[in-house]
Amino acid sequence: MEATEKKEVVFSAIQPSGTITLGNYLGAVRNWVKMQDEYNCIYALADLHTITVRQEPAKMRKNIIDAYASIMACGVDVEKSIFFIQSHVHTHAELAWVLNCYTQFGELSRMTQFKDKSAKHADNINAGLFTYPVLMAGDILLYQADKVPVGADQKQHIELARDIAARFNGLYGDVFKVPEGFIPKNGARVMSLQNPLNKMSKSDENVNGCVHLLDDPDTIMRKFKRAVTDSEACVRYADGKDGVNNLMTIYSSVTGLSFEQIERDFEGKGYGDFKAAVGEAVVEELRPIRERYEKLVKDKAYLESCYRAADEIALKISSRTLGKAMKKVGFVR
Ligand code: TYM
Repeated sequence: MEATEKKEVVFSAIQPSGTITLGNYLGAVRNWVKMQDEYNCIYALADLHTITVRQEPAKMRKNIIDAYASIMACGVDVEKSIFFIQSHVHTHAELAWVLNCYTQFGELSRMTQFKDKSAKHADNINAGLFTYPVLMAGDILLYQADKVPVGADQKQHIELARDIAARFNGLYGDVFKVPEGFIPKNGARVMSLQNPLNKMSKSDENVNGCVHLLDDPDTIMRKFKRAVTDSEACVRYADGKDGVNNLMTIYSSVTGLSFEQIERDFEGKGYGDFKAAVGEAVVEELRPIRERYEKLVKDKAYLESCYRAADEIALKISSRTLGKAMKKVGFVR
């Protein structure tokens, strides 16, 4: 890329609502790291999003700092990227309000994540859970992002962000860049090791279904050894072999091997060998992350200096977009 050529903007965020999972890492965070040299990258801890589900205050504070250290340990480099905390930058809540008035009830009712989460938290179907995709749209649009690296489960939310941006631009001229999702070919949907029809999620009731970024090697190996497979005893990617397909996806995503190569390498071998190989590959991928995390999390002052600096830049950039949008709507600035 020419030095004079303006780099495209990448924006993405993650909820600090518990430990980060292998799904978060392979579906999103690993790409955040890879994109840092080629793009102007802006990443956030979406802490405002987490209170759509009730949080325990002390645990929430700890989760935010742990998640900040974890993402840095994955390789998000604050010298290259802006990595801030959403609730520290007030423009997010403000633009969300404005955009709420440009988003239809019917559009939000169609969001599959809202339907899933309201079924799961039937005792707390709050308005925030419903309007959550609008806050997310605002996150992206504030930074005029070109690309948004996410896992497949966020695709519908990105499409909504595009629709809101296009609608607003249609009324007021070019205010927002219409962003594009950036979803990896491999690893966009990592499934539970115990129920491969459900996505791997920190809220999985079965602890063996979800691998956490900071799990120790023995725990990781144990979870992979217990992973659900099938009775065919043949490592191949095919319809109906959801457990094996998921393990192949994880293995391919970590090692870079194609499915064909994996099938050749494990021809005539049983699932025991295959599960051990997947477990070992994941252990090696996560080992340096865990080691870096252990060091980073001890240095709270350093972490704070990183997010304070990033918060300030994020506020500056996002204030420009917020100001422009509010002026177009008719607010006196
Ligand atoms: P969150 O915190 O649920 O997940 C963070 C990222 O991880 C991806 N992901 C997965 N990818 C593959 N397999 C899985 N099992 C898996 N589970 C999660 C998600 O797709 C996501 O990319 N609403 C967002 C956070 C957010 C955001 C934003 C994202 C807030 N504002 C603006 C992009 C842009 C969320 O809850 O992600």
